[in-house]
Formats: sequence, structure tokens, C-alpha cells
Amino acid sequence: MAVSESPLSAIKGSVGSSIPHDSAHLHVSGEASYTDDIAEPRDLLHLAVGMSERAHARIKSIDLQPVRDAAGVVDVIVVDDIPGENNCGPVIHDDPILAPNLVQYVGQAIFAVAAETVDAARKAARLAIIDYEDLDAILDPLDAVEKQSFVLPSETLTRGDSTRALESAANRLQGRVHLGGQDHFYLEGQIAMVLPRDDGDLFIFSSTQHPGELQALIAAATGKQAKDVVVECRRMGGGFGGKESQPALIACIAALMTQRTGRACKLRLDRDDDMKMTGKRHDFVIDYNVGFDSDGHIDAVEFVFASRCGMSADLSGAINDRAMFHCDNAYYLPNLSVVSHRCKTHTVSNTAFRGFGGPQGMFGIECVMDDVARHLGIDALDVRRRNFYGVGERDITPYGQKVKDNIIVELVEQLHASSGYVSRVADIKSFNAESEILKRGIALTPVKFGIAFTATHLNQAGALLHIYTDGTVHLNHGGTEMGQGLFTKVAQVVAEELQIDIDQIKITASDTSKVPNASATAASSGSDLNGKAAQAAARTIKGRLSRFAAEHFGVAEADVVFTRNEVIVGDSSVPFKELVRLAWFARTSLSATGFYKTPDIHYDRETFSGRPFYYYTYGAAVSEVIIDTLTGENRLLRVDILHDCGKSLNPAIDMGQIEGGFIQGAGWLTTEELCWNEKGELMTYAPSTYKIPTSSDVPIDFRVQILESVANREETVFRSKAVGEPPLMLALSVYYALKDAVSSVAGDGQRVSLQAPATPEAVLNAVRALQYPDETQHA
Ligand code: MTE
Ligand code: HPA
Ligand code: MOS
Repeated sequence: MAVSESPLSAIKGSVGSSIPHDSAHLHVSGEASYTDDIAEPRDLLHLAVGMSERAHARIKSIDLQPVRDAAGVVDVIVVDDIPGENNCGPVIHDDPILAPNLVQYVGQAIFAVAAETVDAARKAARLAIIDYEDLDAILDPLDAVEKQSFVLPSETLTRGDSTRALESAANRLQGRVHLGGQDHFYLEGQIAMVLPRDDGDLFIFSSTQHPGELQALIAAATGKQAKDVVVECRRMGGGFGGKESQPALIACIAALMTQRTGRACKLRLDRDDDMKMTGKRHDFVIDYNVGFDSDGHIDAVEFVFASRCGMSADLSGAINDRAMFHCDNAYYLPNLSVVSHRCKTHTVSNTAFRGFGGPQGMFGIECVMDDVARHLGIDALDVRRRNFYGVGERDITPYGQKVKDNIIVELVEQLHASSGYVSRVADIKSFNAESEILKRGIALTPVKFGIAFTATHLNQAGALLHIYTDGTVHLNHGGTEMGQGLFTKVAQVVAEELQIDIDQIKITASDTSKVPNASATAASSGSDLNGKAAQAAARTIKGRLSRFAAEHFGVAEADVVFTRNEVIVGDSSVPFKELVRLAWFARTSLSATGFYKTPDIHYDRETFSGRPFYYYTYGAAVSEVIIDTLTGENRLLRVDILHDCGKSLNPAIDMGQIEGGFIQGAGWLTTEELCWNEKGELMTYAPSTYKIPTSSDVPIDFRVQILESVANREETVFRSKAVGEPPLMLALSVYYALKDAVSSVAGDGQRVSLQAPATPEAVLNAVRALQYPDETQHA
């Protein structure tokens, strides 16, 4: 693991140092406390949810008596028992907590039962007798397009004149590809525990990326106000976007039951129910039409995206917007039109997932690059390079943002050389010429990912810092910890700013009563936003301490310097702790809030133009695979990655994000397949049928490098760059390497049709379609 360490200073945990995650020792020993590990109150009730068995139906009647009569049951609630608003939808209020008389997906919550034990609750929840009247269900995005069934209006982004450019292009291709969704498969499932407090107030422990939104939705559902509800989360066992909006359903049900019974309530979904009841990455059907010259320069692209949003809007507006914003990936597309349909289907409402639509958009343009290359018989990397954004020219995105920080050309050149791409392509050609059954393939794909919430107002953050009289620090901010190392990074920023060892800083749980109105920890901007807010709070206190020291020691404020747990005042120095004690004695406030909002971003959603992103993060990956053309089985032989983290706040944590993101992306594109049957039931709702990558799927030869510290050109926190989501998209190289291997069974110029995920079955189908073009597709 080549990690360059360049700590700015000698305190423990300075910015840029590769210290471990603050909870690493607790993670590995099993001592880290997750929501389900919090000590349960004496009178805790356990909840279970009664779910719809139909995709789209009217509830004619419902008999809950058997549920109420079951052993251990204390209470049951249905929609009419909700005193406030029956909604857990984050943006548009179209997401019922408990179904009214209409159900819109298999797994939708109809009622909730509270019992003395988990088993009693879960057993009782199955006893309801529900009489449904089935309605026509739309189970497929293309069917939804045909029936004009949308959760939100379709959107269009255009640049230039794609119709004319397509007409006059030397070459044209059209295609359609189906791109699957993805379950988050966080190790810790959805969970909330609610405690009753004085006067009907509610205290919620939830595994959530967005405590503030839960607070608001619970207040609305219970008929309370934000001030009456507190939400806390110390850590999640993974979120990956699946806990940006989805925890609201679970927490609202638990809060409603606590409100009714006056007892503490916990709702923890078991894995099967979690997979059936909660939203996933949107699957897409992508249609494209591309015009290009004989060297592979793209003249025009037209995309139509149809995404499965499920039964409600959830975050689908912003997700599909981000897909549109990333359908250029790292390429300058002079003429472009993208139509984005946000399809309403009678399946679970899909949601945020690492990359937030970006991966789907980028998958589309990479398909185009690959098809163009194969059509022309040119190496796909050459086609990609020819279309890269330029520096100072060809640098405006379709939405009008200038790409000012483009480093994709150098980055790809560096990876091209270090990975030995040219000789490996030659090796693979000769291997494939001699090997009849096993075939190898390779692909290098780039990533350019826009950093900021596309909804400008969400790009804000707050922090709260206390210094106690012994010089130790209590740190809080609006971000949440889901394993990505945010809490560690923000503590590093504060340590650096105050010049004290990181072990003097207490990292504390996200808590709506400490920092209000925080955005979700999402869009990879957790450290950008909360790091800056915490830095601002530290600077405020440091300013007060400086002024105090200048006055107390009779020196100029400019001569007060914080360094290595000391404060230099003129010619002498005092320990930081001592200065704090003196300042307290002189009645100096040692507590401060900090606030940050991302500067210079703006964006007009009507015209899809502006500067939605503060900057871009770049990376590239080369994947090499081998496939068995008789079975479709395959292995990832070698992966080389070069990824940009700006000036990394913590290279070890960033390395973990790159490796983990890549593997998660590889799972999405190869083994993780979501299947619904004709009744709209999810068939792949457990690890027996839904296959996430395991340690044996890690590439045999995995070479990950962080790009040698290139300062972010924007003034981000210590010039770092966001790293949470972008590495997932490096895994596009795995899919295109598989496609490359498949293509070797036919000659140049042959179209390869490979569905995603490229499961062994899909690979085999693609191989057979090339080998036996006249046969109807092998099932
Ligand atoms: N890493 C771990 N270990 N667990 C997670 O749940 N979520 C990802 C990414 N990396 C995730 C993760 C997603 S979807 C996002 S948006 C970012 O982390 C959020 O954190 P950040 O903004 O602090 O990077
Ligand atoms: N990214 C991730 N999550 C979000 C966004 C975004 O752009 N907008 C709203 N939630
Ligand atoms: Mo990440 S999908 O923005 O939570």
C-alpha cells in the first residue's frame, strides 16, 4: 500500500497523517456500540411491521384481531392511529408511513405491532387477515414510460443541436442497455429505539445519515414540533446512501408507538424484511444514439434514461438529476440531449446509493465509448482519450460549468504507464489467440465526479466545540459516522487548528440538540462541510485565547502562536492546557459554534445550468479479467487504480474508501442481481440469493495508489478532496474488461451486448450471442 505521509506538524493526529479510524480498535474487538447495542430500558417494547403481500391493491378489509390476541402483544397501530402527518418522504410528501387503503409495493408497511419480545412481535405480525382487491401493477420502467407513469416530471438537458449533428455524423450507432440496481447490504440493518421523555417528548436513537430529517418527520407524524424531538446517532454499521432517507419509516413507526404506549420502543428489521421494505439503487434502461467520426471523436449523443423510482419520489429527483450531470463523465460532448424519465413502478421506492445516480449516468457514456471503439476497431482507451475534456478549451460541461481543475489527461497517462497497459493489451491478444475456452479482457476507465449537493441550499454545516478547564476538547458537528472515517478526519482538523494531540479531543455522537438543521451526511461532502465548520469553531476559540494571551502576557496578538500542544507568547511559551486554565480564570468563553457554506455554487434547475459542483474529483482504473466462455464464470485478475484525494486529510482512511468503493462498485456490476417476479415480489432478499462481494472477490493483484498530493485548487479544508463516492465508479472498468473479454470470441466491428450486472449468466449469454448470432438468445 503506497501511502505518502506528509503530516503538516508533529502533534498526534495532525492533518495528513495516516492515523487509524477513531473506532478501529472497537470495530475489531466488537466493542463499538451500534444502536442495537445500547442498553435497553426495563420496559422496552419490540416492534414488527405487517407488510403488504401485493404490489398494487386496494385493501378491502383487514382483520387484526389475531394479531392483537397473539401471545405477548401489547398494541397494534394502523394508519388511522397516526395523530399527525402520515408521511416519511423526504422531499415530496408522497410516502405513507402506514399504508392507507391502497398498497403500492410488496413489503409496504400496513400496520405495526408492539410486543414484549422480538419473536412475539414478528410472529404476531404474520397473523393479520387482509383482503385485497388487486389493481394493475407496473413492474418495469419501460412499461412505466409507455403508460406515462412517473413519480416526477421528465427532465431534459440539451447542448448544441444533437439532431443535426447526428444527421451529419460520419458514423452512427444506436443501443439499449439494462443496468441493474443494488441493495446497500449495510452490515447493520435499519433500526431505531425511541425513549419517552417528560411531557411526551421523544428521544430517538437511530442508525441514520440524516438525524435532522428524522427529527422533522417524527415531529410531523406525532403532531409535535422539532423542539420536542431529539435524534442521536453515534455510528452506523454502514449507510452507503441507504440511510439517507430510509431510516425515517422505521423511526417514525417506533416514535408513534412510543407516543401511544408511553413505553420505550425498538424496531429492528431482520435482513429479509430490510431488503424487501427499503429502497435500493435505481436500475436504469439507457437508450443511446451516437454520431462520431472515423477516429472516434464524438459529435453528438442522445440519451434517454428510464429509471425505476418505485412507488414514490423519495430522493429520485436529485438522483436522476445527478445521473444527467454525469452522463458526460470525463468527456467533452459538443452536442448532447438527455431525457430523464423518473418512472413510477409498484416496487419499493428507490433511494440514494453511493454515487447517487452518477454511476448510472457514467455507465451510459462509457457504453457509448466502448461501442464506438469496437465499431471502428480502435482500442477503447484511445477513443476515451480523444474525447477527454481539454484544459482551456473543450472544457465546458453540458450544464455550463467550466471544468477548471481538469487533471484527467495526466492522471490517465500516469496510470497507463504504471499499469503497463500497452504490453498487457498485447499479452492478452496473444493469450486469447491461443486459448480457446478461457479469454482475458482489459479496460481502463476514467472517473470525474462533481462534489457538492446539487441542491445548493444543502451545502451548509455546523459544529459545536467546547474546551474544558483541563484543556481537553468536546467536538460535535452535524455529520454522521458510517464507517467512512468522517469523525476521525474532523477531529484531525481540530487537532491541527488548535495544535493539540488528537487524544485530547472527544469525538461525540451526532445529536440534533447540539447542532441543528444539518444536511444529510451525503454527496461525499461530509468532511468538506463539517471539517470547515469545526475549523471555524476552533478558530473562534483560538482567537479568544490569542487575545487573552496577548493581554495577559503583554505581547502583540500576532506573537501568540499555537504549536505542538504549546502556545508561544513572545519569547516564552505556555502549555496549551495552562493557557486554557488561565483564560477560564479570566472569564473567557471556551465554547463556540462554527458554520460553513460552500461558496460560489449556484444552479438553476429550470434550465439545468450553472455551477452545481464546487470542484471535481478524478480517478482512473485498469481492470483485467478472465472469463470461461463455456460457463460465463470469471475472475478479476488485476486492478490498478490511481485516485485523486487532493491533499488527503488521512491517506490510510482514503485508501480504505478507494478500495471499499471499488469493490462495492464491482459487486454492483458483476454479482449483485435484484430479481422481481411477475407478482412484484423481490426474489433476491437474502444473502443466499443476493451476492455481494466477499474477500475472495478482491482482485488477486490489487494495486491502489493515491495521486501524489495535488492541492485542491478550491479552498477546501486543508485543500483536501472528497473521497466517499467517486471510487465506486472506478469499477466501471471491471464491467468493460468483461465486455472486452467477451468481444474476443468475435472479430472487430462486432457489437457486444452484455447486460449489467455481468453475472456469469449474462457473460455466457453475451458470448453465445456472438458465437451463434442466428440462435435466439439463450435463456
Ligand atoms: N464508507 C463506509 N465505510 N460506509 C459507508 O456507509 N458511505 C458512502 C461513503 N463511504 C459509506 C462509506 C457514501 S454513499 C457517502 S455519500 C460518503 O461515504 C459519506 O461520507 P463522507 O461525506 O464523509 O465521505
Ligand atoms: N447527493 C447525495 N445526496 C443528496 C444529494 C446529492 O447531490 N442531494 C440530496 N441528497
Ligand atoms: Mo451517499 S449516496 O451521497 O449517502
